[in-house]
Amino acid sequence: MNIAIEIIYLIASIFFIFGIKKLGSPKTARKGNLYSSIGMLLAIVVTLSDQHVLTFEWIIIGGVIGSLIGAVLALKIKMTGMPQMVGLLNGFGGGASLFVALSEFYKISPIIPINTGIAIILSLLIGSITFTGSLIAFGKLQGIVTGKVVKYPLQHPFNLLLFILVIGAGVYLLMNPGNVTLVLIITFVSLVLGVLLVLSIGGADMPVAISLLNSYSGIAASTTGFILENNVLIIAGALVGASGIILTLIMCRGMNRSLMNVVLGGWADAGSSDGVSTDQGPKCDVKSVDAEELAMILEVASSVIIVPGYGMAVAQAQHAVRELMLALEAKGINVRFAIHPVAGRMPGHMNVLLAEANVDYEKLFALEDINNDFANTDVVIVIGANDVVNPAARHDKSSPIYGMPILNVDYAKTVVINKRSMNPGYAGIDNELFFGDNSLMFFGDAKDAMGKLTSEIKNL
Ligand code: TAP
Repeated sequence: MNIAIEIIYLIASIFFIFGIKKLGSPKTARKGNLYSSIGMLLAIVVTLSDQHVLTFEWIIIGGVIGSLIGAVLALKIKMTGMPQMVGLLNGFGGGASLFVALSEFYKISPIIPINTGIAIILSLLIGSITFTGSLIAFGKLQGIVTGKVVKYPLQHPFNLLLFILVIGAGVYLLMNPGNVTLVLIITFVSLVLGVLLVLSIGGADMPVAISLLNSYSGIAASTTGFILENNVLIIAGALVGASGIILTLIMCRGMNRSLMNVVLGGWADAGSSDGVSTDQGPKCDVKSVDAEELAMILEVASSVIIVPGYGMAVAQAQHAVRELMLALEAKGINVRFAIHPVAGRMPGHMNVLLAEANVDYEKLFALEDINNDFANTDVVIVIGANDVVNPAARHDKSSPIYGMPILNVDYAKTVVINKRSMNPGYAGIDNELFFGDNSLMFFGDAKDAMGKLTSEIKNL
């Protein structure tokens, strides 16, 4: 029986690995989700069939309540609320590891083998940090907790001291395995550490912090797997831990930030529009166009590149953007999309939205595949993007985004920028692109503006 369980666990792990592989591209992501879900279903069914399960009552009650909450959240949460939703779910993962470690301690105490003891301590530490850290991350993104970088004197030495305290208590616990007070100290201090670590990260840097916490939740699950001697949990946790850290590094590279810079709080202090701009800003120094004028400019174009950004997500303009694409193509214009790796607020944000609107994957080009084509393009339409097209990143050494790879939209013959005002984007800095000789501002909410432009083009 045990061998059969281990073999099915291995099959479930293979499904996870193929699932993650397929999640690497928007084309195959749905299949990836399906593979991973099959793996998870196998793992759950086999775990429940284990003779160690004494009663199914509480498992069924928990499963039903959890599934209901999950289904409601999945249906209700808007795409722009996805980062905080992921943050919350990471927190639950960390919390689950914490509770399993605590209950296992009470179950086997006071005779705890050293390897299980180490796994329990790590699970308590990482699970607790993930739990409270994720709740704070959720609170920051939801606007419940301040989005500002919270700083206080001797912050880093104090955090280090707490960490050393946990490790010290852990070592002492290994020597006195039945000591409940030590377990409570480790748990409490780790919970506080989670709050303090994430409180010091600015709200705007939260997506990166959430990705990091996602990795922690995987590592916590993996250590819990060692406590329970459950191989599929060890493997699944390790996969989440590794992919989470890879994603975090990709995001940091896309923003030209070091992980340390994010973790210790940096440009996150800068203002962020986050889609709630109220100040309409000075519009006088820029050239602006209306939908009719823009339609006439597009009439004589033969190539157009659309650059979507966070504003498209805020406005939920993806369907209107597809309509625009179809109207342009009906006029014989070649339309492509340029996708910056950190456009929006989460990895693949633009790909997901455009896929939802049924825009062909073949029309979506990554930065490195399209950046050289801007110079040969007639019109670039930037829709709610700001930082990812800011030329300061190329030459202004004093700019916080200096060195971040950007889409070279300013090299095109004409650049049209759609946004509601002159407000900055996530990095809170001005964008010289708006003042370029070949730049035209097309002010308005993205959905509304794209709708008007499309009907003007159809009327030509
Ligand atoms: P941003 O630089 O944040 O700019 C978005 C722009 O959209 C704003 O300037 C805003 O201007 C405009 N906007 C907001 N609502 C709009 C609406 N309803 N209609 C039209 N425009 C609207 O966006 P980006 O260029 O996509 O860059 C993403 C930024 O987020 C980068 O700095 C990146 O480093 C950061 N970031 C990304 C991620 C990931 S993984 N994607 C994670 C963390 C951080 P108005 O207010 O004037 O309209």
